[in-house]
Amino acid sequence: MLDLTGKNALVTGIANHRSIAWGIAQQLHNAGANIGITYLPDERGKMEKKVADLVEPLNPTLFVPCDVQNETQIQSTFEAVKSQWEKLDILIHCLAFANKDDLSGNFSNVSRQGFTQALEVSTYSFVQLAGAAKPLMTEGGSIVTLTYLGGVRVVPNYNVMGIAKAGLEMSVRYLAAELGTQNIRVNGISAGPIRTLASSAVGGILDMIHHVEEIAPLRRTVTQTEVGNAAAFLCSDLASGITGQVLYVDAGYAIMGM
Ligand SMILES: NC(=O)c1ccc[n+]([C@@H]2O[C@H](COP(=O)([O-])OP(=O)(O)OC[C@H]3O[C@@H](n4cnc5c(N)ncnc54)[C@H](O)[C@@H]3O)[C@@H](O)[C@H]2O)c1
Repeated sequence: MLDLTGKNALVTGIANHRSIAWGIAQQLHNAGANIGITYLPDERGKMEKKVADLVEPLNPTLFVPCDVQNETQIQSTFEAVKSQWEKLDILIHCLAFANKDDLSGNFSNVSRQGFTQALEVSTYSFVQLAGAAKPLMTEGGSIVTLTYLGGVRVVPNYNVMGIAKAGLEMSVRYLAAELGTQNIRVNGISAGPIRTLASSAVGGILDMIHHVEEIAPLRRTVTQTEVGNAAAFLCSDLASGITGQVLYVDAGYAIMGM
């Protein structure tokens, strides 16, 4: 049985009820995990209030601001984990960012700033958070990140985010090789397209979803809950032999050639 009772799980990337991270946090909670949430702070504190209201039913025992471009906030996040929980068992990396202008049109137009920021927020943050989690995962652990098919094949408009996801998927493998000796497993979930705040920045996202609904073996795309269930599985003992992998939760779309 999928049981995460007694596990401390830190979930990043909840912005609203459509967030994939929200689907994951709920399924980890349903499996008995103790939930900690990080949110991206803004000057007016709007995000803090919004996320706090959303996650209240999960009774999070940790709720901290963490902008992954802010070294101090990353440090204080993991200090809070240490003082509140002593050990960490599960880390969910479920965040990404690229300028909207860089998510349509010609890839070769991407600016140095846009390229650097997309890879810093979407890829480097994973390596950094995993590195910070490592000393706290004293009884082993599971780290999961979210990726997309556009990191292994060309998807129109995905552009710089495809490069970020390619780096992310390779980071899964390098981190898995390094952290495996501490019984920390590192995996990715490649989700099919889902309407969220982040995906709405990708040019033609609705067309992408309709295309998947026509072509995927299951003739539909996936839900946040289905991604959440796969994440809960990867974080559980049922997946104790699985590390360094990218699991496709995409209604089968990626197997199709035509
Ligand atoms: N929606 C999809 O179709 C889809 C498909 C495959 C993979 N993914 C991936 O899933 C993950 C979650 O995205 P989502 O679709 O749920 O959208 P979302 O907008 O709900 O989540 C993106 C999150 O990234 C956070 N974020 C952005 N910049 C940040 C920063 N500097 N510091 C900390 N957090 C920051 C946002 O606050 C937000 O919570 C992303 O990695 C995305 O690429 C999404």
